[in-house]
Amino acid sequence: MRAVVSKGYGGTEAVEVVEVPVPEPGPGQVLIRVEAAAVHPVDLATRAGALVQGGLMGARAVTGLGWDVAGVVEAAGPGAGLAPGDPVLGLHDLLDVPLGTHAEFVVLDSAAVARRPDGLSPVAAAALPLGALTALQALDALGLATGETLLVTGAAGAVGGFAVELAAARGLRVVALAGAADEKRARASGAEWFVDRAAVEGGDLGAAVRALVPGGTDGALDAAVLGVPAQAAVRSRGAFAAVLGGQPLPLRGIRVRNVWVTADGTALAGLAGLAARGVLTPRVADTLPLADAARAHERLAAGGLRGRLVLTP
Ligand SMILES: NC(=O)c1ccc[n+]([C@@H]2O[C@H](COP(=O)([O-])OP(=O)(O)OC[C@H]3O[C@@H](n4cnc5c(N)ncnc54)[C@H](OP(=O)(O)O)[C@@H]3O)[C@@H](O)[C@H]2O)c1
Repeated sequence: MRAVVSKGYGGTEAVEVVEVPVPEPGPGQVLIRVEAAAVHPVDLATRAGALVQGGLMGARAVTGLGWDVAGVVEAAGPGAGLAPGDPVLGLHDLLDVPLGTHAEFVVLDSAAVARRPDGLSPVAAAALPLGALTALQALDALGLATGETLLVTGAAGAVGGFAVELAAARGLRVVALAGAADEKRARASGAEWFVDRAAVEGGDLGAAVRALVPGGTDGALDAAVLGVPAQAAVRSRGAFAAVLGGQPLPLRGIRVRNVWVTADGTALAGLAGLAARGVLTPRVADTLPLADAARAHERLAAGGLRGRLVLTP
């Protein structure tokens, strides 16, 4: 089968499509025939060697790329609880691997996989697992109650976009931070207030948010990885969810939670159901064949996309 890997680390020249044997599922695992798999910032970071430099994984000669997958079960190991032909979506959450989901087939633990509901296409489903599970797990880590207020930075991105929708569905009152062009969508997703990033760049996000929510929000979900400026918008003894670790420090009694996504088939089934019902909106910018993986890395790095690039083997 064909699979996309990073050979060593570097620019897009490190991205290669290679021929490898089709992997075999073990007990509790399924072999998935991949129909669609999204390309994420983490794939670019993996290829560039940033995860090795950050101590998140060891250096290896060949690293598999790709986290999300939508496809069909091709074969199931004993006790997998799924059968050949089942439409599924899943998340591959191991960093240090020779093969990821950017491939024609992938083996996942069935605990990382959910059945794909009718009404959720493979391409839309592929844009769901990493962003939506991260948003869900960050909201759970924040532990806010109905009616409390939440700042979501990067609200036009995958994690931030799902976070706005999930938070609004939980009855949280959301302040969304994104570019002006994304205000309409953020409000339609459930944001009560909106801050234009251009108005606070190099300025005072904390003051802008406190002008809307006196005293600051009860929590922040920092999908744009702003750190301290986003924390400044949170009230004392509030909660802050960081998605890249390390920052900020727990100033003013703020509970800082570093969220690292964990594959969870049960939670993913719930999120897929929400997407099928239109509560969550997986966004797809474009689809590309597996052979164009390096081009997908270039386009994602260039910025300005709204929605994920999805590889379709
Ligand atoms: N910890 C985990 O387990 C985990 C899991 C998934 C993702 N992540 C990380 O979470 C971050 C977000 O991921 P993602 O998939 O949502 O990425 P994404 O889709 O690229 O979204 C990030 C969004 O933040 C926006 N942004 C950047 N700077 C901003 C600013 N100053 N103000 C407002 N918005 C700003 C970006 O806008 P532009 O496109 O205009 O720059 C983009 O819309 C990434 O760093 C990713 O690596 C962590």
